[in-house]
Amino acid sequence: MFGSSAAVAATSLLAVCSHFPLALAQESSSSNAVVVDGTSFALNGDNFSYRFHVDNATGDLITDHYGGSVSGAVPSPQEPAVNGWVGMPGRVRREFPDQGRGDFRIPAIRIRQSEGYTVSDLQYQSHTVSNGKAALPGLPATFGDADDVTTLVIHLHDNYSSIAADLSYSVFPKYDAVVRSVNVTNKGEGNITLEALSSLSVDLPFEDLDMISLRGDWAREANRQRRKIDYGVQGFESNTGYSSHFHNPFLALVHPSTTESQGEAWGFSLVYTGSFAVNVEKGSQGLTRATIGLNPNRLSWNLGADETFTSPECVSIYSKDGIGGMSRSYHRLYRNHLIKSKFATSDRPALLNSWEGVYFNFNESSMYTLAEGAADLGIHLFVMDDGWYGDEYPRLSDNAGLGDWTPNPDRFPNGLKPLVDNVTNLTAEGTSDNLRFGIWVEPEMVNANSTLYHEHPDWILHAGDYPRTERRNQLVLNVALPEVQDFIIDFMTNLLNSADITYIKWDNNRGMHETPSPSNDHAYMLGLYRVFDTLTSRFPDILWEGCASGGGRFDPGVLQYFPQIWTSDNTDGVDRVTIQFGTSLAYPPSAMGAHISAVPNHQTGRTVPVEFRAHVAMMGGSFGLELDPAHMADEEREAVPELLALAERILPVVLKGDLYRLRLPEESQWPAAQFISEDGSQAVLFYFQVSPNVNHAAPWVRLQGLDPEAEYSVDGNATYSGSTLMNMGLQYTFDTDYGSKVVFLERQ
Ligand code: DGJ
Repeated sequence: MFGSSAAVAATSLLAVCSHFPLALAQESSSSNAVVVDGTSFALNGDNFSYRFHVDNATGDLITDHYGGSVSGAVPSPQEPAVNGWVGMPGRVRREFPDQGRGDFRIPAIRIRQSEGYTVSDLQYQSHTVSNGKAALPGLPATFGDADDVTTLVIHLHDNYSSIAADLSYSVFPKYDAVVRSVNVTNKGEGNITLEALSSLSVDLPFEDLDMISLRGDWAREANRQRRKIDYGVQGFESNTGYSSHFHNPFLALVHPSTTESQGEAWGFSLVYTGSFAVNVEKGSQGLTRATIGLNPNRLSWNLGADETFTSPECVSIYSKDGIGGMSRSYHRLYRNHLIKSKFATSDRPALLNSWEGVYFNFNESSMYTLAEGAADLGIHLFVMDDGWYGDEYPRLSDNAGLGDWTPNPDRFPNGLKPLVDNVTNLTAEGTSDNLRFGIWVEPEMVNANSTLYHEHPDWILHAGDYPRTERRNQLVLNVALPEVQDFIIDFMTNLLNSADITYIKWDNNRGMHETPSPSNDHAYMLGLYRVFDTLTSRFPDILWEGCASGGGRFDPGVLQYFPQIWTSDNTDGVDRVTIQFGTSLAYPPSAMGAHISAVPNHQTGRTVPVEFRAHVAMMGGSFGLELDPAHMADEEREAVPELLALAERILPVVLKGDLYRLRLPEESQWPAAQFISEDGSQAVLFYFQVSPNVNHAAPWVRLQGLDPEAEYSVDGNATYSGSTLMNMGLQYTFDTDYGSKVVFLERQ
């Protein structure tokens, strides 16, 4: 423990940390990110401290502090009175709450032993500290070298059952991030079943917190939900096999007074694409516990002798600068230490995607005409979406073809190459750049109307004789099976080698049901990650985009492999403001795909000006069009080159800059956001008016994050100081509803 005083040999559970040393023993060579004194542990970032210690009497890990920076001695918490029904374990802040020994709150782990009982008693045994961070076997994970991250691993052991657990804490000090994961090993002879395992569990000493999460459904993803945490357990989860549209694997805890720009926020983001569960419990003792990890309802994992199970990791970020500060740390961390693609922060080509323009109605020649239209507008990447494949069962609608990844011979009598060659010979108007070609796939799915289904009915997810229910006329391949993984890897390799394809949109359009066992869900994910890892390593020059009916898999697991994700199938400019602002709570705007589509919008029937649609789409890292240029009104088409030029100009700031959500769409009809480049020399303000504004002053929008002393030119016109722009702001008026403005600022 910290300190050498004899009094430190505390028998009391909570007296330990009153004796904090002035000089701390540092096991971390490069920084004080992890500091260990005996069996007391301090994790430190630029703006946070996290402390816990081993209770000498029980071997339990007791949390002392997780929040803003502390140093030196810290006061000892008052020992809770133990009386009545609940003993000490149910009253204290525990790092890794187990089950069955009197902590009646939500556990982080539940193991069913071969004898049937679910009690466990995981006690501290030893620890290690190392610079850097090891990869997680088979799972996506944040990465960094010795200068970026330091890792503490606490080894726990249950002496009554031969079960061991390793808790891993990796600290990225610059990002105020602690990344947690757990390994559970069966060191006994018999089989055990892992019934629940949270990647992270945290007990905060507050009983008046709010929780923030992202909820939604198809075409209305990532709606920010903030609610007061009440007594008892509340939470959200995905049972769909995927992270899902319904809830995102992300939670923030904040004080009621915390806002976008002020106050404390704790974020928890699970690096996982499968079913997950988040539980938050305000207990009788005035503590709030949160757990986040695999969904126990879809786990039930058998662990044989000497086998180890590794949980996904959870990234926690502490912010003293409100919810916006938390988001900015996530954005920076995920851009630099999660997304592996070389395109993570590099300029993405403006694209035209065929889906909303032609849906399934095309052939080789009309697809080429669409690409010509794109080239004429100055587009750099043409993407052919669904409908290009299926020989015996051609994909003319969503009723057939999935699984048969051969070009439809009627549409492409000589395969894809002639179209790809012709498209990549086009040049983007106003440039000498050749167009690039991208293509859509949905590799995890199969239609009953397909050759694949008839040849491999056993590859489909199924539970005995229960009917294999279809959604969107399709079934799910069991990607847990190595032969299915190999099938996907092989056909994707052939496809990518068949023509000059440099972009893939990887879709997934239904939830999983009729699975052979609950544990199949996680096995599927391990299989999928193997496929993603193999293909993205084999084809590092491909720009990969994730998609699952829009944002059904907008999660950090996918981002490890794919630098961008199609944010939503809802392309309505106004709805997109809410969806993109919500998504930005945890995910960098660089990762969002956002397109200008036709009006009236196909999802909402709303008509908004092309400038508004474009300005909203420019807030995403992958900007483009999703319409048939031949059907654009003349004035829309004429506006496109200038909009493309603007998008290109501001893209580096959007891709790499810091985002400030100045006004939220759920709170104001003038939502606004601002990006600042990494070096602070450039900023971009996005400002919208959603409804008409009659007889009401246009509000001032106050900028954030600028240098108060510096001078900034605003759109090359006026020049104002940073303090003026932040304390007074700018004011814009719009003649009508759906007004929008993109303002470019440069430090002088
Ligand atoms: C769902 C996707 O989200 C859409 O963008 C489109 O690719 C369709 N699938 C194609 O079937």
